[in-house]
Amino acid sequence: MATTPAPAPIGRRPELGGRFTPVPDEIDAVDLPVEGTLPPELTGRYLRNGPNRLPGEEPGHLFTAHGMLHGVRLREGRAEWYRNRWVRTRALEGHPFLSEAGVDLAAVPANTHVIEHGGRLFALVENGLPYEVDADLGTVGPCDFGGRLTTAMTAHPKTDPVSGDLHFFGYSPFPPFLTYHRLSADGGDLVSRGVDVAGPTMMHDFAVTAEHVVWLDLPMTFQWQRMATGMPFGWDESYGARLGVMRQDDPAGAVTWFDVDPCYVFHVGGAHSDDDGRVVVDGARYAPADVGVMWGGPVPGDPAAAAAATGAARMHRWVLDPRDGSVTETALEERGVEFPTIDEALVGRPARWRYAVADRGAGGERAGAVVKVDSDGTLAAHELGPDVVAGEAVFVASEAPGRAEDDGWLLTITTTRDGAASRLLVLDATDVSGPPVAAVTLPRGVPSGFHGSWIPDRCAPRM
Ligand SMILES: [Fe+2]
Repeated sequence: MATTPAPAPIGRRPELGGRFTPVPDEIDAVDLPVEGTLPPELTGRYLRNGPNRLPGEEPGHLFTAHGMLHGVRLREGRAEWYRNRWVRTRALEGHPFLSEAGVDLAAVPANTHVIEHGGRLFALVENGLPYEVDADLGTVGPCDFGGRLTTAMTAHPKTDPVSGDLHFFGYSPFPPFLTYHRLSADGGDLVSRGVDVAGPTMMHDFAVTAEHVVWLDLPMTFQWQRMATGMPFGWDESYGARLGVMRQDDPAGAVTWFDVDPCYVFHVGGAHSDDDGRVVVDGARYAPADVGVMWGGPVPGDPAAAAAATGAARMHRWVLDPRDGSVTETALEERGVEFPTIDEALVGRPARWRYAVADRGAGGERAGAVVKVDSDGTLAAHELGPDVVAGEAVFVASEAPGRAEDDGWLLTITTTRDGAASRLLVLDATDVSGPPVAAVTLPRGVPSGFHGSWIPDRCAPRM
């Protein structure tokens, strides 16, 4: 196989700066300037997690930096406060993950997502325990649900909109490589089972439908020989690539596996079962050559593909038919995207609209637009211009009775490419390409990060 050297991947560049520049401290600001009109319905907190090393720490891989929460409090048309806080994990306190005592799942930076479940807020990272935080971003501590969670927890759990149950998993470099968990809506009941995968795959996300769990068993694997690099996961051409479908109503049942073209997927955009019993999964797919650019190392594939690779993911659809084992793969868009989101009331159900952070045109600058994509592929874009990037755009539904699927807002923290300034942008989800409904000027540049959630007041703990 021909290979081409790839540029240093973004997460490993020691000089990583600009919009990724970590902030050196924790601050509070009140009465933030607002352009436009904040909808009074948006009363709650927008919380976002991301990596932010401590001042003076050696820059390592971006994905291994300590987690920092940024929060913006909105209340009845006003932007009451911004604050940022590190998630005070045992890793931040200097405790080792691996020692003679074994693995400490609480000694991991919780830097990837922040969610609410059962009236509690959790900062998440895929290789550690969830860390409970309070509504003012203070750290409560690691949570193993009364000793019942004995694995790490993905940063991408899925709440079933009907049952309220939280579906999630933990993966590990050690057997069992993958464990499925289902936590009841009130957080009181946890059911777990092992799932056989081919090896220690790096499973960042997964999918659920109303009836199924869908596994992404893809060729980014834990490799001991990479430990010294600070990021032990890498592409393994020999691993194969497959998606697995598991019924939720048969917790001990077998997984039906479907071989797919090799790729990597950080983020699923949605999944559902269709009328014929097929499982439809949409995800932001990195082709092998793009994995090489994005993650580093030799670029697999033919030289032409390697030369054309930009390191971007593109939306892709897999249709899995458990009746005959067939798979159909379809590229949905050419534009590079990441952070796909949907209306969370439609997790596991057919959704017409998908939102994402997109590059500026094919092969253009990263994350320069927020896009809304119809199920037929029609795309509306909110272009941010050459100097600004978007973070994940979270859909917040309006509370109008019988609302349309896209009746609501998209919330995203934007950051200038030099990292100097940020705004919380509120877009009308029915008119994404139109002017923002409101923009809150934040008191500092918020480094580009990962995922966030809108926490309405009715869900926030300890108000
Ligand atoms: Fe993620």
